[in-house]
Amino acid sequence: MDSTDLRLRPFVPGDDAEVTRWFADAGALRLFAGKRLRWPLDTAQWDGIRSDPTLTAWTAIIGEDARPVGHGEIVEESPTEVRLAMIAVAPSVRGRGVGRTMVAALIEKCREADYSLVILFVHPDNATAIRAYRGLGFRPSPVAGNSNSNSLRMDLRLKK
Ligand SMILES: CC(C)(COP(=O)(O)OP(=O)(O)OC[C@H]1O[C@@H](n2cnc3c(N)ncnc32)[C@H](O)[C@@H]1OP(=O)(O)O)[C@@H](O)C(=O)NCCC(=O)NCCS
Repeated sequence: MDSTDLRLRPFVPGDDAEVTRWFADAGALRLFAGKRLRWPLDTAQWDGIRSDPTLTAWTAIIGEDARPVGHGEIVEESPTEVRLAMIAVAPSVRGRGVGRTMVAALIEKCREADYSLVILFVHPDNATAIRAYRGLGFRPSPVAGNSNSNSLRMDLRLKK
């Protein structure tokens, strides 16, 4: 597996069963989705994501293999600001650079769409995720008082 071959395609119903398998219990789902999704996952919840006009949901694949290795969403917060959400990598390939490469590809989508600021929220105990985001340039946000008080907000400025 070579994560440099990673690309993003739209998240489709055929991905649901595989992505659902990545979350073994309610705790794992909480790290990924916060309070947004309920355990157990079902197609109706994934359909809700696909039909949400405020976001685009992406599946990461590697090379010619169509199976999902990652999932990520870009939520528009304002004409200049987007939030990355629901970032996850298949457990079988974690720790091999897929997360870092996928988030870099999501950032590229934001840059191409001309957004100025990319933000995300992460649980403060999620050291792997925080490390990946830091490596890509995200920094703890100077913005105080957000709605996700239990989470760390991280920011990446793409332009002034
Ligand atoms: C967080 C997640 C997306 C990272 O993806 P990944 O493919 O495992 O991460 P990568 O291999 O790209 O590694 C990213 C960084 O974390 C480090 N890392 C990887 N596995 C680690 C581990 N088990 N413990 C500590 N650090 C780890 C890597 O060294 C790398 O750091 P570097 O960029 O400084 O070298 C993935 O672990 C995941 O899906 N976790 C469950 C869902 C989740 O928590 N999502 C985040 C919600 S905000």
